Amino acid sequence: MAGLPRDRGRRPASAVVTEPAAAVGDAGSGVPPGPAPLLDVSELQVTFRGRGGTVHAVQGISFSVEPGQTLAIIGESGSGKTVSARAVLGLLPSSAQVSGSIRFKGVQLVGRSEQELRAYRGRDVAMVFQHPERSLNPTMRVGTQITEAIRTHLPVDRTQAHERAVELLRMVRVPAPERRFYEYPHQLSGGMRQRVVIAIALACGPEVLIADEATTALDVTTQAQIMDLLLDLQGQTGTALVMISHDLALAASYAEQVIVMYAGRIVERAAARDLFGNVRMPYTRALLGAIPRGETDPHVLFPVIGGRPPDLATVVPGCSFAPRCPDAQQDCAQQAPPLEEQELGHWYACWHPCGKEVQ
Ligand SMILES: Nc1ncnc2c1ncn2[C@@H]1O[C@H](COP(=O)(O)OP(=O)(O)O)[C@@H](O)[C@H]1O
Ligand SMILES: [Mg+2]
Repeated sequence: MAGLPRDRGRRPASAVVTEPAAAVGDAGSGVPPGPAPLLDVSELQVTFRGRGGTVHAVQGISFSVEPGQTLAIIGESGSGKTVSARAVLGLLPSSAQVSGSIRFKGVQLVGRSEQELRAYRGRDVAMVFQHPERSLNPTMRVGTQITEAIRTHLPVDRTQAHERAVELLRMVRVPAPERRFYEYPHQLSGGMRQRVVIAIALACGPEVLIADEATTALDVTTQAQIMDLLLDLQGQTGTALVMISHDLALAASYAEQVIVMYAGRIVERAAARDLFGNVRMPYTRALLGAIPRGETDPHVLFPVIGGRPPDLATVVPGCSFAPRCPDAQQDCAQQAPPLEEQELGHWYACWHPCGKEVQ
């Protein structure tokens, strides 16, 4: 087992996960209109058209996030986590086709122009990526990169932006922030660079922060420091945190709600505290046993789950995990199990869930 979740004195259940039918204020659903969720993703689908056919990268996922909440999206490489996050930020290449709905405070983002999205990106929703060195400009002082982010969205002068940048560096616990302001990315360690990237992401006080494998490239100690930092900052600012990871044990120890993705779909979701010891999807169970390749490349997951992820250009009739599932039976290959709330607050898409075997 890849380690148990640490009890971080979580606040009560969090990132509310909604089904499309229960969307707030859905006309005709009988649900009385209430305040819109902060971020509400419903039936999101993303396809890429290419020479090899159409890749169905995200196949109808729904979730919502409320202020101050922590949601983890986990899954093995290629399950559609990054594509989903990029869709939320409107950061997909033009070859991507996005359908479904992404609402920020009730405002639909799907179909918006690049110009409209640019105003919202960074200011309302910001993202931290896996490789800090790719997110930073190697030829620019880190302080300037932060002030640029601030001045893109906030009407402040140079002095105010400088002060705010130093304050942000201090907030992300970069030592000697006044001096570090003038340094270049190569003068900083990987962990310090990721702190700078987080400072840039927080520059305009976003209401949602998406951290996509933000600590995967870092050593274990730095990883824990950055995760603690993200949670502390979240506590201070009330930002909602969506953390994306291939590491279920890590995610579950920091997040309140966990969504498990496989082949572009959500296959299991529950409150983190309910998921451990109660995993229902054989895929989720396998993820708990997955170990990073460590010595060779820390970013690549060693596929302890036998077999390969499905070809997303081919639509199969049954459960997409069935060909790799040790518990699969004949019916699994015939019809895809729907994602349903099969226990209170616990959703899964499986015909033969773990711990529920018929004797
Ligand atoms: N620009 C693209 N063109 C075609 N396919 C893509 C593109 N970006 C991602 N994909 C495909 O979408 C699927 C999901 O990718 P991704 O979201 O990056 O996975 P994850 O972040 O879970 O590892 C993969 O099969 C990937 O090959
Ligand atoms: Mg990814």
